[in-house]
Amino acid sequence: MILEGKVAIITGANKMKGLGRAIAIKMAEQGAKIALTGRASSKAGLDEVVEDLRARGADAIGVCVDVSKSDEVEAAIAEVAAKFGRVDILVNNAGIGAGSGILLENSERDWDANYAVNVKGTFTMCAGVIPHMEAAGGGSIVNVASLAGIGASVGMPYPYIATKHALVGATKAMALEFGSKNIRANVVAPGAIATDMLAEAYAAIAEAEGCTVEEAAALENSTIPVGRPAEPSEIADAIVYLASPAAQYVTGITMPVAGGMSAGI
Ligand SMILES: NC(=O)c1ccc[n+]([C@@H]2O[C@H](COP(=O)([O-])OP(=O)(O)OC[C@H]3O[C@@H](n4cnc5c(N)ncnc54)[C@H](O)[C@@H]3O)[C@@H](O)[C@H]2O)c1
Repeated sequence: MILEGKVAIITGANKMKGLGRAIAIKMAEQGAKIALTGRASSKAGLDEVVEDLRARGADAIGVCVDVSKSDEVEAAIAEVAAKFGRVDILVNNAGIGAGSGILLENSERDWDANYAVNVKGTFTMCAGVIPHMEAAGGGSIVNVASLAGIGASVGMPYPYIATKHALVGATKAMALEFGSKNIRANVVAPGAIATDMLAEAYAAIAEAEGCTVEEAAALENSTIPVGRPAEPSEIADAIVYLASPAAQYVTGITMPVAGGMSAGI
């Protein structure tokens, strides 16, 4: 139980098939109390995930927050601190990938939408938890980027690539600023994960290539050395490691968890 007594906030944890739920399950198995979060518009899904965690014996609550809205972020973190008394771990899992892999097709709205969630939302959440981590004598932040945060690939939306790179850069800055306060900040960079986001990507590829979704999936899998996307739990394992005392001397890194795809970047 390497997270016994710890309190973890996980953003974007409102889908039964999402990475956020998988992280919550793994952290709860390691003894952490869990605050699952999602937008108010996703409350039904959030409630379902909270019930699922509780059925597994977890001490879990659901808190509504749109991470792109700083007033909601402030209120959500205050709610978690009031309920659990401390915040030790933050996983910024919420992310979007709006836009196009063709530069000229991206609108101002695409750029703003990605920035609002992937960058501003991530670091507003970080800024909100840091005083609580300082009060607790330290903490660990894991930000979820993507291989699109350390390299580019054809067809991936430009605003997604740009904002995931920004996420990696500013996480390094946090590692420098807060290392002396025992607050660590790291990034996990998944390749492909079998979630709704990947299903949407397959659909977009199928449309662009004029093939079936199954053919698009096979095409994508052919680019992954292990030949398949990750299960969410396989990414969650790396996030639990970085959040835990097992990684107490690890900060400022970006860890690809990508079935070998990072070898080609
Ligand atoms: N699925 C993949 O292949 C893949 C690959 C690399 C990285 N990632 C990253 O993994 C993370 C999890 O994605 P996923 O695959 O579970 O996809 P997903 O789309 O199922 O989950 C993303 C979550 O973020 C939430 N979200 C979006 N905007 C939000 C906002 N403004 N406030 C709060 N929550 C918001 C969504 O409601 C959803 O629950 C994302 O950061 C994504 O970029 C996914």
